Amino acid sequence: MMDSNDLIVIGAGPGGYVAAIRAAQLGMKVALVEKEEMLGGTCLRVGCIPSKALLESSEKYAEAKHGLAAHGVKVGALELDLAAMLKRKDAVVKGLGSGIDALMKKWKIARLRGVGRFVAADASGVTVAVEGTAGGASGGGGAANATQELRAKKAIVATGSKVAMIPGLEVDGERVGTSTEALSWPSVPRRLIVIGAGAIGLEMGSVWARLGAEVTVLELLDRILPGMDGEIAADAKKILERQGLKFRLGVKVKRTARDAANQAEAIVEIALPDGGSEVLRAERVLVAIGRAPCTDLLGLDAVGITLERGRIPVDERFATRVPSIHAIGDVIRGPMLAHKAEEEGIACAEWIAGRHGHVNYDAIPSVVYTTPEVAGVGKTEEELVAAKVPYKKGLFQFRGNGRARAANTIEGRVKVLAHAETDRLLGVHLFGPHASELVAEAAVAINFHASAEDLARCCHAHPTLSEAVKEAAMAVSGSAIHA
Ligand code: NAI
Repeated sequence: MMDSNDLIVIGAGPGGYVAAIRAAQLGMKVALVEKEEMLGGTCLRVGCIPSKALLESSEKYAEAKHGLAAHGVKVGALELDLAAMLKRKDAVVKGLGSGIDALMKKWKIARLRGVGRFVAADASGVTVAVEGTAGGASGGGGAANATQELRAKKAIVATGSKVAMIPGLEVDGERVGTSTEALSWPSVPRRLIVIGAGAIGLEMGSVWARLGAEVTVLELLDRILPGMDGEIAADAKKILERQGLKFRLGVKVKRTARDAANQAEAIVEIALPDGGSEVLRAERVLVAIGRAPCTDLLGLDAVGITLERGRIPVDERFATRVPSIHAIGDVIRGPMLAHKAEEEGIACAEWIAGRHGHVNYDAIPSVVYTTPEVAGVGKTEEELVAAKVPYKKGLFQFRGNGRARAANTIEGRVKVLAHAETDRLLGVHLFGPHASELVAEAAVAINFHASAEDLARCCHAHPTLSEAVKEAAMAVSGSAIHA
C-alpha cells in the first residue's frame, strides 16, 4: 500500500488532469491514475486535438484549391501529402502530451499507469487498486501487470466516455471504424458513409470531403446537429451541402459490416421512413452515433454506487452517494464536452478543499468545427419555445460585416435571444467564420447576467467579426446599423 494521498483522480483527460492540478494548487497530495501511456484522455489522443489538427490542415488544402483565387493568389499544381498531414497531427498531439507530463511534474502529482478500481470506501477515505503497468511520477518504468493499492481521503472519477454502439454495427476498425480510425486513414476513401450527423460526423466528414472523398451522412432524426439551435443548424446544413456533403435524414442504420464478397468495401443497411430498406456501399464507414460513459472497470459495485441512465449520479458538489467519491465530466449528467469536464474538475477540487466550486451550466458553449463553424451558448430557440419563455430575437448576417467581406468569409449569421420583458440574454447561436472564438464573449455576457442592450452597448473594435455579435444584440431592439 502506497502512502496515503489526499486525493486520487482516476482518468487523466481534460477533466481529470485539470482537477489534479487544481487540487495540487490547493495544497493536496494527489495521485493520478491513467491506463494509457499518454495523458490528456480522448480529447488529446483521439478526439478534439487531432481532429482540429486535421480540420485545420484539410481547410488549408481546400482553401488553396477553391478559396485563394478570389484573393488573387494563383496556385500551381496542387498536391496532397496525406502522410505529412497525418504526421503533423501526431506531432501536435505528442507535443501537448509532453506539456501535460511537465505540468504533472511541476505540481508534484504522482502518476500511476494502470486501470483504477475501487476496493473499499469508508468514512476515513477510499482504497483504489491500480492494475497494470505501475509507473512513477514520469509515467514510465514499473513492473508490467503489477497491482498496487492506493489510499486517499477522497477520489474523483474522471474516466470519460467511449464510442457508443448499437446492435448490428460490426466495427472491424478497417472498413467500418470510429473517429479513432478516421483520424489516421492512410489514403483518402473514394466513398465515405458517416453514420450520425452530430459533431464528430460533421467534423470528420468535412475533413475527408475536403481531401476528396464523396461523403454521405446518414442521420436518424429529421435534422442535423441535435442539441444546437435548429435554425442555425439548418443554415449549416445548406452550406455543408454546397461544400459537397450529402445528407440523408430520417434514416435508421440497421446493420453495417465488411462486404464478404468485396473486402475493400463495407455495406450499410438502412431502414427508410416508408418502412422499406436499402443497402449502401462505401470504402469506409464512420460510426459517430454518440458516446457512452466509461464506468465498467471502476468496481462501482464494491462501493455501492449504482448508475442512473448509464451515468454516475452526483450532487451539486460532484459527490456520489459515497461522500469520499466524486465524479465529473462525461461519466455524470450533462453534455460530453472537454471544457465542461474541465470546469467540473476545477469546481470539484475546490469543493474537496473546502472552498466553493461553481459551474454555470447555462453558459457552457458548444462548437462544431466545420467551415464555417457552428457555435452556441445558452438556451436554443426550441428550448425557449418548449419552456414557454417569452423572448425577442436579433439576427445579423456576416455579409453585412466589413471584416467578413475583407476576408471573403461572408456565409453565416448570428442570432441573439433575449427575454422579452427583462432583455436578459438567454442564448447566442451563430454559424460563421471563427464562431468558436466569437461565442466566448456571449458566454461571458451570459455568465454576468448581461442584457442584450449591455452587449449592444459594448464598443467592439472595427473592423472585426465580433461586430456581428454586437449588431445581432442591437437587432434584438431593432437597432442594428448594418442590416
Ligand atoms: P452526437 O450525439 O453529437 O450525434 C450522434 C448523431 O447520431 C445524432 O444526430 C443521432 O441522432 C444520430 N444517430 C444515432 N443513432 C443512429 C442510427 N442508428 N442511424 C443514424 N443516425 C443515428 O454524437 P457524436 O457526434 O458521436 O459525438 C459524441 C460526443 O462527443 C457528443 O457528446 C459530442 O458533443 C462530443 N463531441 C464534441 C465535439 C465538439 O464539441 N466539437 C466534437 C466531437 C465530439
